[in-house]
Amino acid sequence: MSESSDDFGLAYIDSCDQLTLLCIHGFPFSSAMWEPQVEDLSGVARVIAPDLRGHGRSEAASPPYTMSMLADDCVGLLDFLGIESPVVVCGLSMGGYVAFEIYRQYPERVAGLILASTRAKADTPEGKAGRDATIEKAKKQGVTAVAADMLPKLLAPQTYEEDDEVADFVQEMMEGTSLEGMVGALQAMRDRPDSTPLLAEIDVPTLIIHGADDQLIPVAEARAMKAAIKGAQLVVIPDAGHLPNLEQIDMFSDAVIDFVDALTENDHDHEH
Ligand code: MLT
Repeated sequence: MSESSDDFGLAYIDSCDQLTLLCIHGFPFSSAMWEPQVEDLSGVARVIAPDLRGHGRSEAASPPYTMSMLADDCVGLLDFLGIESPVVVCGLSMGGYVAFEIYRQYPERVAGLILASTRAKADTPEGKAGRDATIEKAKKQGVTAVAADMLPKLLAPQTYEEDDEVADFVQEMMEGTSLEGMVGALQAMRDRPDSTPLLAEIDVPTLIIHGADDQLIPVAEARAMKAAIKGAQLVVIPDAGHLPNLEQIDMFSDAVIDFVDALTENDHDHEH
């Protein structure tokens, strides 16, 4: 090997050499919710989608969890994968709360934000009491009982009634969450900080996506975030509830592709 030790510039192709999109799932889901986007976006981005602790195939770490721990887990994954360049963080619902925390703690790691089906505000006192009641229910009646309560509210009424495939998929994904993960995430959401003051500080391109028929987080929350984040775009997806990426796959993926394309073009402009 000593013969090849000359100092020379080695060229190479790396098919992963694309902007990274870190997709963070909502509660109580897993990376499986991003399957359609992994397929649709592979031409424009490297998609990384973790299972948050206690969810999907990740280990059921003991609660309590905090948003800060979930953010550290995601950034730890980027470190583990050697991804040093800033990434686009795409968080849906609870994933959006994690995205805010990543931006708060690690702004240098963020090239752009996609805030889907989420809100900036913290839980109200009633909301916090609701989290505690859900924790009790999960402990006494199990994850399946909580999943059964949530399912009709997660999807637009039309999706729930007509699209058994999506409804079954979402139910199965929720039932795959561990009790530890469910309790830990509920605690983390209950105690999360208000991200409203952060909105005016966000200075990366931001895309907000919201289902017009979201019954869990009203579209007014998305409009409020758009008004407060400089230059943010808002895409409201018709005939979609809380899971627009599964209910209207093409519209969701196209919005993300346009956003990533614009970001990458801007990057090239800067290089020239
Ligand atoms: C989620 O979808 O992640 C949760 O419903 C969000 C929440 O309960 O605040």
